[in-house]
Amino acid sequence: MAEHMITVDTERCIGCGLCKADCAARNIEIRAQKAVILTPDCVLCGHCAAICPRGAVSISGYGEAPISRDGGRPLDPSQVLDVIRFRRTIRQFQAQDIPSGVLEQILEAGRLTHTAKNLQDLSFIVLDREKAKFEQMAAALFRRVKPLANLFSPMAKRIQIDDHFFFFHAPKVIVIAAKEEINGCLAAQNMEFVAEAHGLGVLFSGFFTIAANRSGRLRKALGIPRGKRVAATLVLGYPKVNYRRSAQREALDVTYL
Ligand SMILES: Cc1cc2nc3c(=O)[nH]c(=O)nc-3n(C[C@H](O)[C@H](O)[C@H](O)COP(=O)(O)O)c2cc1C
Ligand code: SF4
Ligand code: SF4
Repeated sequence: MAEHMITVDTERCIGCGLCKADCAARNIEIRAQKAVILTPDCVLCGHCAAICPRGAVSISGYGEAPISRDGGRPLDPSQVLDVIRFRRTIRQFQAQDIPSGVLEQILEAGRLTHTAKNLQDLSFIVLDREKAKFEQMAAALFRRVKPLANLFSPMAKRIQIDDHFFFFHAPKVIVIAAKEEINGCLAAQNMEFVAEAHGLGVLFSGFFTIAANRSGRLRKALGIPRGKRVAATLVLGYPKVNYRRSAQREALDVTYL
């Protein structure tokens, strides 16, 4: 990762203190009516640059400039809830491929996802031309353990592990590796929402995630960086099915203390 330096343009700074009040690292002081960054040691969250009304704070070393936010429409809560209510795991896909622009937006959702300690520890591996090879490697692994699973689960006994057991003929798969699993899971969910907005269907392949984390060969072939594990595997494509109603769920289990 590139080095990042935070600087304050003292000509622009009006000493309003908004950056200081919002800095989680207590890394900003106001001295003589100007913001002063105390040390380079912070989480580099970018809040100071994002909040400044004068655009006085800049952070070097990124390949992009901050994007100005002009109002924007507030989200409609019931529409958001309906997205969650009516999304279904898709296991039947059309043969149609995903346009590269759509794939880029899905990956962008992953890149922009918030991470614990602002770690930005996510790596994305898109399985495209070599998808079948990885699926076959994972299937070989699962076939070896299936006799054991058959003993414990009638469902496992009914299911055959063929060479499409993990990806269901979907055109693209994105493997998300992370140092902190939760960061990868958050990215996966955000990516699913963007995929859904593009009319795509998604399957979270927990089975492929298990295979990738258990098999050194698979990890190596995927190029999972050292210190990272696969947090989620997104299987993506245009759905061949249309669900007409929601699926029922258990009642809310909540306690207010
Ligand atoms: C983390 C995670 C891993 C999953 N892994 C698999 C999988 O490997 N294979 C599969 O067919 N479904 C998988 N699923 C799908 C679940 O079975 C599915 O979400 C659940 O049955 C509810 O159905 P719905 O997603 O359509 O509401 C996974 C779901 C999640 C959240
Ligand atoms: S928010 Fe901007 S203008 Fe206000 S004190 Fe910080 S740097 Fe200065
Ligand atoms: S980047 Fe975040 S933590 Fe660092 S000085 Fe700015 S607000 Fe504080």
